[in-house]
Amino acid sequence: MIIIRELIDDLKPVFSKVMKKLEVPDTTWEPLFGKSTVEDHGDVALPCHSLAGILRKPPGEIANQIAELVFQDLESFATVSSISGFVNISAKPEWISRRISQLLLDTRLGVGLDEGKIFAVDYSAPNVAKEMHVGHLRSTVIGDSIVRMLEFKGHRAIRENHVGDWGTPFGMLIEHLLDLGEDRAATELGVGDLDSFYKQARSKFVSDDEFASRSRSRVVLLQGGHEETLRLWRILVDESMRYFNEVYSMLGVLLTDEDIMGESRYQELLPEVIERLRDSGILEESEGAEVVFPGGWVNRDGEPLPMIIRKADGGYNYSTSDLACIIDRVERLRCDGFLYVVGTPQKQHFEMVFQVAKKAGFMSDDHQAVHVNFGSVLDTDGKVLKSREGEVIKLHDLLEEAIRRAEETIDEKNPNLQGKERHDIARAVGIGAVKYADLSTERTKDYVFDWERMLSFEGNTAPYLQYAHARICSIFRKWGGDRESLRENFGPLVEEGSSPPTKEELTLARRLVEFPSILDDSASTFSPHKLCRHLHSIASSFASFYENCSILNEEDVVIVRRRLALCDITARELQLGLGVMGIIAPERM
Ligand code: ARG
Repeated sequence: MIIIRELIDDLKPVFSKVMKKLEVPDTTWEPLFGKSTVEDHGDVALPCHSLAGILRKPPGEIANQIAELVFQDLESFATVSSISGFVNISAKPEWISRRISQLLLDTRLGVGLDEGKIFAVDYSAPNVAKEMHVGHLRSTVIGDSIVRMLEFKGHRAIRENHVGDWGTPFGMLIEHLLDLGEDRAATELGVGDLDSFYKQARSKFVSDDEFASRSRSRVVLLQGGHEETLRLWRILVDESMRYFNEVYSMLGVLLTDEDIMGESRYQELLPEVIERLRDSGILEESEGAEVVFPGGWVNRDGEPLPMIIRKADGGYNYSTSDLACIIDRVERLRCDGFLYVVGTPQKQHFEMVFQVAKKAGFMSDDHQAVHVNFGSVLDTDGKVLKSREGEVIKLHDLLEEAIRRAEETIDEKNPNLQGKERHDIARAVGIGAVKYADLSTERTKDYVFDWERMLSFEGNTAPYLQYAHARICSIFRKWGGDRESLRENFGPLVEEGSSPPTKEELTLARRLVEFPSILDDSASTFSPHKLCRHLHSIASSFASFYENCSILNEEDVVIVRRRLALCDITARELQLGLGVMGIIAPERM
């Protein structure tokens, strides 16, 4: 069980009084509050082991003493006990009930607004004329959820799609485009046959000297701003973007053309990057190249590892664009934070970029620069996910397959669904399943792409949560009453004359009350999986509640309304939680 922040807020004044008596400073005991290690022991625990030194007593005795001293003041809202050096506290049903009635009336379900900051969220970032791979899918899905969470928390999230649209490969890509003819090339790219286009260009480049030399001159023309070359380059970019946009729209993510901030956009800033690095005294020359030594990294021979800013041939690097990017995000966009949702293999790159940017004064320690890294996508055999032919998987095909498979499972569950409704639900379930499987895996870990698992109606999956939500919607359809009225007069969980809440009602209520703390934690650590785990625990405690407690067939109307109110919050938390992950919760399934 997780800590209920609001419960700790209520506990603190009581503990503070006692701790003052024991002469333990606030800074010592306050941070000790944590979740109970054993769920049955309570909601919150205060481990007393580290107090033994100050109080010169064994932790067990300290815990007993504290428990005795707080007991009376907590009595109205919590129970307290002590076990092996821990003070364990459980919220009483009355306290939970009060929280539930607050959540019922709050459209934000208890989630507060933060002091609004500006974040640049750098995500998706596929490369032009190359297939978007599953890593880009992961970045797109995780980044999009982070944007939604930050916005819900009251921040401004600026979406930045740092597409790879510049650099030496564009020489060969443009020459290949000319060889094919513009129209044919555009068609090939527009239908998303990006990989074969890239491969054809590449194979000519390595086997055909004349082509290679044309390609090199083309790069020079491109970098020199040659108009006709730029026009051809634009075709490559536009056609690729058309394909990427199709994937975005299938996924239902927020990215639009407005968010494109590709590498090419920073070209003009690059000479300035050099100048500023030189002014700050950290630019050095090494074998004709201009480099910076961030310090702290060595190559295989143990020599300090440089970050190459400008190659000996005058070309700039990926790192140079990223430095320009930081200048732009700090000075033009006035960001407080920048998040890079990029795979773990680029860890060193970002560490070095952040280090150099700080040294050069492009950003300060007040800026929150975070590499929101993530693991690889593997197939069920533990290898990097590929298509059956061993090629890079086309995301478009993958998403279509998700919808098709979802249609099959839905037909099994509910054969009455037809036409557009059936298709919309299949889309919500199929795309939701792909997104959720990705988000619910702790992002730094590798994630196994497993159709069976992600589309299952059991376990920590999107369909499981969506189904719980739809089931509640159907309860409300059957009931036919006014949901608003349930929210306004929530009978307390414990009411004289009605039977007390069951174990299942209380467990569900506790989890519902935890929702705001968890959403906050998920948003501030850029970790959607924490929210997923909690939504799953809500849905599974709802399932046992539903199994064990009758709702509409219950005779006592007080109980009916109390249980319907719990259903109301459950559905809303599921919908909101899925919503901040960009997943739709259909009302019927
Ligand atoms: N295009 C890069 C890739 O495919 C990712 C770019 C990430 N963003 C950044 N600012 N470096 O690996």
